[in-house]
Amino acid sequence: MNTHPTCELGRRDLFRLSAVAGIAVTVGGPATAGFAAPPTGGGGATPTAHLNPLHIPPVLSTQGPSTLTAGRTKINLGGKDGSALTYDGHFPGPTFVARTGTTASIRVTNSLTEETTVHWHGLVVPTAVDGQPHDAFGVNQSFQYDLPIRQRAGLSFYHPHPHRATAKQVALGLQGAFIVRDAEEDALLLPSGDYEVPLVIRDANLDKMNTLTYNGRASGFLGNTALVNGTLAPYLVVDRAVYRFRVVNAANSRLFRLALSNGASMSLIGTDGGLLPTAVAVSEVLLANAERLDLLVDLRGLTAPLFVVDRDSGWSLLELRPKPAAVTVPFTPPPSQLSVITPLRDPVRSRTFTFDGMTKVNGLEYDMNRISFETPSGVVEKWTFVGNGNPPHPIHVHGASFQVVARRGGRNRLFAWEGGWKDTVLLLDKESVDVLVRFDLKGRYLMHCHKLEHEDAGMMLNFQVV
Ligand code: C2O
Ligand code: CU
Ligand code: CU
Repeated sequence: MNTHPTCELGRRDLFRLSAVAGIAVTVGGPATAGFAAPPTGGGGATPTAHLNPLHIPPVLSTQGPSTLTAGRTKINLGGKDGSALTYDGHFPGPTFVARTGTTASIRVTNSLTEETTVHWHGLVVPTAVDGQPHDAFGVNQSFQYDLPIRQRAGLSFYHPHPHRATAKQVALGLQGAFIVRDAEEDALLLPSGDYEVPLVIRDANLDKMNTLTYNGRASGFLGNTALVNGTLAPYLVVDRAVYRFRVVNAANSRLFRLALSNGASMSLIGTDGGLLPTAVAVSEVLLANAERLDLLVDLRGLTAPLFVVDRDSGWSLLELRPKPAAVTVPFTPPPSQLSVITPLRDPVRSRTFTFDGMTKVNGLEYDMNRISFETPSGVVEKWTFVGNGNPPHPIHVHGASFQVVARRGGRNRLFAWEGGWKDTVLLLDKESVDVLVRFDLKGRYLMHCHKLEHEDAGMMLNFQVV
């Protein structure tokens, strides 16, 4: 039932396979002293000691039909029992793994107390199964999502998208990872099994019973506790190995400035829409809501705990705890060319979108029944996103991936994690960003700010690909 051929190989077989030119950036090495007390701050309640083993959500292959139930259940946050909205009782929901060229059939049942939808963020699928607010379904109803997986390998994720209730449902626990695999990625023999770890990172507020609570306003929602894969104060016991971390910022509003506590670099091999052409060494990433990262982190030399930290809040998100007397797991570095990305070029027209305040795009609040514009399929357009007050605005487009080509104002440059195929890009203060986009599917799609409170307050529009 394993959808990833390399997973069928033993760890040793996997790493015995032939080596090619290397890209791994060594970040192991003895972690620098002084991390007995991981950084704290940000006024948060996140404990400074990492007490709980990192929860790894169950993996669901989409080879056969799947079911998924959204409802309120008890959860374990690590050490503490609590309650949240969950998919199949898991927080985050199960990690789906699908292969390019197949159809993922997932029947979602709504056991919540209000309507919901599931949007498969990053999957380019027909309107009817895109989980838009138009297709919300009621309590005790089900919706059949037959998702044709046409795109390349990459990390997507799923979350609710009902009209004006997305932020609350996500904050209360509804999100999960969705991994697409393909032959191109298989051939790279990237770390797999125990060495490929999803990191669904978010913040949360908990009440005395450890129930996730939500009190967002249009200005946003900032929780006082970090959760990685739904675990409070997590640690991961690691072998001396190269790890592949599949990271998603699943927070409603909070940006994470991710780094390793010793400042070492990580090897960035992919972003929202899959692999980059070549790996890039990064020592810090400002990850906006809904953005994803594919990172190789070399822990072969690790002898003392290392921490994944958020430099903005000062939180220590995850402890990487070396196994005592661990043996070093061999690693076959992937080739320097990971993939090929053909640059989009020669846009046939340009459009500009201003993201105004906390509630509007181009001066208008979202109206489910308004189609703001039509755009032809199969041609390249240049879209410019302009921040107009109340940053940050992570801008997301449904129905296609785009390529980020320029940023003016503010930071005035592009970053390594904005390379490759993207579906979400961050606007900070006074920034405008140009992207090139081409739609291959026709239908109605959405563009919106992925600060979910802005989205729910109206910073969203519909457009029609014709
Ligand atoms: Cu992840 Cu329209 O959203
Ligand atoms: Cu989306
Ligand atoms: Cu916004």
